Amino acid sequence: MAVKFYKPENQVPLEMHKVRMVQKIALLPIEERLKKIQEAGNNTFLLQNRDIYLDMLTDSGVNAMTDLQMAASMRADDSYAGSETFNRVKAAVKEVFGTDNVLPAHQGRACENILASALVKPGQTTLMNFHFTTTKAHITRVGGTVEELIAEKGLLPQSDDPFKGDFDIPKLKRTIEERGAENIAFVRVEAGTNLIGGQPVSLENMLAVTDVCHDNNIVSILDASLLQDNIYFMKTREARCKFMEIKEIYHLLADHFDIIYFSARKLGFAKGGIITSKNPKYTKMMMEYVPLYEGFLTYGGIDVRTMEAMAQGLYESLDMEYINQGPEFINYLANELHEYGVPVILPAGGLGCHLDAGAFVPDMPHNKYPAGAVAAALYIAGGIRGMERGTLSEQRNPDGSEPYAELELVRLAVPRRVYTLSQLKYTADRVKWLWDNRNLIGGLNWVEEPSVLRFFFGRLKEEDYWQEKLAEKFRKDFGDSL
Ligand code: F0G
Repeated sequence: MAVKFYKPENQVPLEMHKVRMVQKIALLPIEERLKKIQEAGNNTFLLQNRDIYLDMLTDSGVNAMTDLQMAASMRADDSYAGSETFNRVKAAVKEVFGTDNVLPAHQGRACENILASALVKPGQTTLMNFHFTTTKAHITRVGGTVEELIAEKGLLPQSDDPFKGDFDIPKLKRTIEERGAENIAFVRVEAGTNLIGGQPVSLENMLAVTDVCHDNNIVSILDASLLQDNIYFMKTREARCKFMEIKEIYHLLADHFDIIYFSARKLGFAKGGIITSKNPKYTKMMMEYVPLYEGFLTYGGIDVRTMEAMAQGLYESLDMEYINQGPEFINYLANELHEYGVPVILPAGGLGCHLDAGAFVPDMPHNKYPAGAVAAALYIAGGIRGMERGTLSEQRNPDGSEPYAELELVRLAVPRRVYTLSQLKYTADRVKWLWDNRNLIGGLNWVEEPSVLRFFFGRLKEEDYWQEKLAEKFRKDFGDSL
């Protein structure tokens, strides 16, 4: 039950945990920040942690673990095969999803590699509410394609729709009819749809997708990496879920989807990845890839201590007092920014707060990378590392043309239980300053553009000298402040 404050204006998300270990971080002077982002080729992935004040790049693998997760990792049973640790992981997966067949892999994209290798034939397509970068890269690697069937409402930056990640069900049915079921390798639902702002999918919509799949004999897959946040939203926004136990929702999903996989860097607040299914037919189809790419079937490239932490983290993903942390902090940050007039994706989703970079620099063409430019500017403004989630994160078409992103976003991920509300307030304040000085933000041009997953290690350069001007304005406004 939520804790109500006496004065409504004092209401903030309240933690049901305490912090007993801390790590020092530093905020460099702005002149240093300017130098560091330019040395990093204006790519926030290439910044060093020691130069970052708030690392909001991702919530992946950087969440604070609980005392019980730390304790669990001490009793790991190390062995190449048959480790007791893996049995504990299996027991945790069984408790959470009710499934018996479990394959480990070293992280989420490794599961995607296995799924694509086992299920996608060249020329086949895959249907999903929205792609994720690594998912699409693996499917195209094996000669498949990806079609996105997100409902139109999902691409509106601001609305009051509670489930913007929903599939367009009529379009799903139409597409299956047009393509022919035999040409569709699988349908994938991504919970907490990452690239459109961590937006949830309703339980009703997920089950409607699996019904269509069963009717057409097409494999249904749930990417459950962001399911924890998604379940929080189901519980708080969907009438049907309000009185369901959290576990009941997980189990219902596992009853309906043929295959579930997830990155345990997100679900389970540890590291690693899992593929699971009620039906051993599917895990058998994929089994051989685990020792080939990952490690033996009872560790899959994950170290045993991490597997123990994952198992405990999975049990904790059933606890509302833990799973509310992400969405409630993100909502706080998004609301602060909204009140300041800064355009953010609304309603706030899971994963992080998403700035609508397109609105910061409305006249900047997609191929000057508005979201990349705003992400670089925010590091200069506040030592805050966000992630570009726009055109730069897309991959070029085979003919070399560039698909422009539907939304140009900068994601400020909120690692769970890591940053405090005062740090989120600082973030909102620096973003507001940047918004007020948005006319100073200029474009970026490639210096080095890798052909695959270019956003990870590509390097870009500012057009003209807008970053120096931004730093100068900061000094003028903030005096000798860091
Ligand atoms: N699926 C989704 C929905 C994800 O968000 C991610 C990772 C993956 C699969 C791949 O998992 O990283 O363990 O290989 N998202 C991270 C992020 C990278 O920062 O949002 P992974």
